[in-house]
Amino acid sequence: MTWIAACLCVLVLGMYQIIIGQTLNPDSERKVLGCNVTGEWHSELGSQLQLSAAGPEVRGVYRTAVESARGAAGPSREARVVGVISDGPQPTIAFSVLWAKGSCTTWVGQCFILPGGVQVLKTLWMLRSAAESSMDNWDNTRLGEDQFICARGVESL
Ligand SMILES: *[C@@H]1O[C@H](CO)[C@@H](O)[C@H](O)[C@H]1NC(C)=O
Repeated sequence: MTWIAACLCVLVLGMYQIIIGQTLNPDSERKVLGCNVTGEWHSELGSQLQLSAAGPEVRGVYRTAVESARGAAGPSREARVVGVISDGPQPTIAFSVLWAKGSCTTWVGQCFILPGGVQVLKTLWMLRSAAESSMDNWDNTRLGEDQFICARGVESL
């Protein structure tokens, strides 16, 4: 009887250590639950965003599905992305694009993991078009919201 009790006690202590070890170890949590922005993303408008994160920096390519004026984003509608990203399981991110005809866009937001494991980038953006003069400054900045879904789909949890 005492032998069985001793076995149970060892078993319970072992499980306790496993559970505590997992919840207290930030590295294992990041690996299991963290956003990984490296890969391909699609906006609700059909724009494609390829990102690659290296430490606190992100690089990539943006292929826009929309333009403020015909041709503003160039014939390929593609441009380079440069940005920054925080660490942690749901990092904040800011990235910018310079378009072929001299306008530029900056997005700022955060990567979230939705219930079910889908990764989403929730962002606000500002698009600046070049004004002819300071008199035209007032109406050359647009503001909006973009949500990007990771094309990789559901993360393995
Ligand atoms: C993030 O995803 C990319 C592309 O799937 C993969 O190559 C990379 O190893 C991942 N990074 C981490 C830290 O899981």
